[in-house]
Amino acid sequence: MNVTNVTNDIYQLSVNVEDILFEGLWEIPNGVSLNSYIIKGEKTAIVDGVCGWDGVPESLFALLDKLNIAPESIEYLIINHMEPDHSGWIEDFKKINSNFKVVCSKKSAELLEAFYGHTENIIHVTDKDTLDLGKGHILKFVEIPNVHWPDTIATFDTLTGTLFSCDAFGSFGRATSSNYDDMLSKEEIDFYEKEAVRYYSNIVAAFSMPVKKAIQKCSDLPIKIVAPGHGIVWRKNPNKIIEDYSRYASYQKGPAQEEITIIWGSMYGMTEKAVQHAIDVLEKEKIKVHVHRVPETSWGTILASAWTSTGIILAMPTYEYKMFPPLAAVLEELGKKKVQNRKAFRFGSYGWSGGAQKELDEIISKYCMNWDFLEPVEFKGRPEPKDLELITEKLRTLVGEVRELTNE
Ligand code: FEO
Repeated sequence: MNVTNVTNDIYQLSVNVEDILFEGLWEIPNGVSLNSYIIKGEKTAIVDGVCGWDGVPESLFALLDKLNIAPESIEYLIINHMEPDHSGWIEDFKKINSNFKVVCSKKSAELLEAFYGHTENIIHVTDKDTLDLGKGHILKFVEIPNVHWPDTIATFDTLTGTLFSCDAFGSFGRATSSNYDDMLSKEEIDFYEKEAVRYYSNIVAAFSMPVKKAIQKCSDLPIKIVAPGHGIVWRKNPNKIIEDYSRYASYQKGPAQEEITIIWGSMYGMTEKAVQHAIDVLEKEKIKVHVHRVPETSWGTILASAWTSTGIILAMPTYEYKMFPPLAAVLEELGKKKVQNRKAFRFGSYGWSGGAQKELDEIISKYCMNWDFLEPVEFKGRPEPKDLELITEKLRTLVGEVRELTNE
């Protein structure tokens, strides 16, 4: 767990979480940081809390001690969003401070009661409210519902221009004591950008419309620092992560980047032969390609690639008159995350019968994905040279369509 100085009177407490599935579901190969912030005016507030996995609250209290802050002197606990990765430590905190006030939205208060039975000393805030901590730190609250739960607010310190944005503008990736964009190399920033795409696509993607609204709303604020609940703090170039999030939100309805994602599965290597051929063709076309086999690759990894790709190729055999099941499951998840308006192509093998197309059509329609598919190429058993030629032709068409859309 780290404690670092963000700016005047503001500190970050950060804990890394690794070797778990985030939300019990998403693989996090590079971990994730959970960030809390302390604002020390004449009164002290803590924004969000870090819970969990490394001896908190003991380690949290040790860090507060480093800052000469007695836990019982914290007057306000600001909960931007009630999901337990930010609020889960409140019960432990209550054991050593019985006098604090919770500052949160009305919806957060309802969830606070449902999750932890906490109903006392709660101050509901809306867009109209401010909180004066003294020494010039007047906090303003901004309702940004559905980024990521309906209860979410952001907190803005008007003195320093620091936006405590919670899940908005966050990323996966473990934190270090250099958890600030002005302390990182370009390679490290690139690393966090990839982790931001993974975080966005896995956690926030389904709420891309609310993300756009939140960005619009926050554009009225004189933001100098973006301090999210996960990932690095943006002090040198806060607009970068705001612009990145704006782009990620736009990828929902497409077009996204000049990239193609191949999601494929194979039972006995017949479809795999055609996939290898497709990879060779796309390499010659010099377009960026992500290749993911199912069920071996996690949903989170596939989602991150699909989110940034304008073209998607599904390659799988028919299985018992339907799609190869792990590919159907991934496609359903892409539908739920609203990966829409992609240029797409399907090919694959069948044995005794086809049938994959019917299920594919059902999923695309059920989630209103509106993918524009080229005519599929299906082959009985192994792909013959004529099948590979047809696949080549379709792939070239797909590349052309992706390039046309992304270069408009
Ligand atoms: Fe980081 Fe939606 O909680």
